[in-house]
Amino acid sequence: MKVLVVGGGGREHAIVEALHRSQAEIYAAMANQNPGIRRRSKEILLGDVTDVERIVSWAKGHGIELAVIGPEAPLERGITDALEAAAIPTVGPSREAARLETNKEFTRTLMREHRITGSPQFWAFDNLAGFEEFVNDSYFEFVIKPLGLTGGKGVRVWGEHFSTKPEALAYGREILEKNIGGTARFLVEEKLVGEEFSLQAFCDGRSLVPMPLAQDHKRAYEEDKGPNTGGMGSYSDADHLLPFVTRDEYERALETMTKTVDAMFARDTPFKGILYGGFMATRDGPKLLEYNVRFADPESMNVLPILEGDFLDVCVRLTGGNLPSNVKFSRKATVCKYVVPMGYGSHPKAGEQLKVDEESIRRTGARLYYASVDERGGHLYTTTSRSLAVVGIASDLGAAESISEEALAFVAGNFYARRDIGKPEIVKRKVERMQKIHG
Ligand code: AMP
Ligand code: GLY
Repeated sequence: MKVLVVGGGGREHAIVEALHRSQAEIYAAMANQNPGIRRRSKEILLGDVTDVERIVSWAKGHGIELAVIGPEAPLERGITDALEAAAIPTVGPSREAARLETNKEFTRTLMREHRITGSPQFWAFDNLAGFEEFVNDSYFEFVIKPLGLTGGKGVRVWGEHFSTKPEALAYGREILEKNIGGTARFLVEEKLVGEEFSLQAFCDGRSLVPMPLAQDHKRAYEEDKGPNTGGMGSYSDADHLLPFVTRDEYERALETMTKTVDAMFARDTPFKGILYGGFMATRDGPKLLEYNVRFADPESMNVLPILEGDFLDVCVRLTGGNLPSNVKFSRKATVCKYVVPMGYGSHPKAGEQLKVDEESIRRTGARLYYASVDERGGHLYTTTSRSLAVVGIASDLGAAESISEEALAFVAGNFYARRDIGKPEIVKRKVERMQKIHG
């Protein structure tokens, strides 16, 4: 089957590997030459992945039979609507259903209207006077969020990005003046305290089938210090929960997502694609921080390699509205670590050579997923984005983490990686922190 994959990061390389295992014939559209994806592809289209018209006409010209969309930006541009209008079934929501990610107020309002639990308190403002009144009267810590896509850089958290009322007002003013996130309107939410986790799920419009939980690490440096990034790495556990998430908390998070999919169906804008809930485990149970309408990056690299059975079949059934009730994943723990350029998060250093001993990495048992690297004269160089990831897979977290480290030893060059991700003593600290929060 001819399958188009849009996007050129580590997430899309993991998607391509899973499709390749199902004997799909891959056609890839991406902005950068991802060497891992290129190797598996029959043909590639280089260029802007939000150029919907160009991608759809290329897909039509190549007789594509199914498409899988990696990143959110083309979804916001309506790539699914356009591909489906050309009779190409697509794993990815319509532009309208993608609003679960592209408009944070839409999501909060939907949850409120449908009485879906797991939302923090929130307010919306489109003028400074209203926000000023709120700030002056408030006696609790809050978070300020632009409504639309900001590449993960728009949210400001009290105590992390600002710590006074005047600073809060200044950011509110900036959003209104510069239309940060696409409109002169923003959300304010009560600040949640806890540990974050990611729940990804397949959705066929009516039903939702979950994948194992994973935890991302957004901060650039060890011990969760430094600037926020696209994600430095992630882990998942053999029981498909996380050491700090109980079965009951997992069920509650799943219910929030299931009810959201029900609500989207009820309003005639069914959600079909991958829904990924970013949750905070808090003392009052799991709360939804945000939805993303695609696989998570890096967490897709935790779940896709342990998917049992046929990923292509799951994709076909997803687009056909008849997902199986259960998609199986091996009972393995995984640890994913991204190799990034030095200075990633603030001043990334592009153009540094990376030497990747692929054969030795394979021998460790780890998976290797390329992301953004430049290839010149047969050599690989860093760009300003994440370069590649290694994923250790084993029966427990400790062993998976060791394998990820063994694999990293076969990448040479001037790069940075967070070594603490998935280390048992670090995970233990998260469990203890959650125990304290629960009192
Ligand atoms: P978002 O883009 O909505 O996921 O927000 C980015 C990050 O901001 C999240 O991963 C959290 O670390 C943080 N964040 C978002 N909403 C809240 C909230 N209500 N309370 C505390 N932290 C939050
Ligand atoms: N794990 C962060 C993201 O995919 O947005």
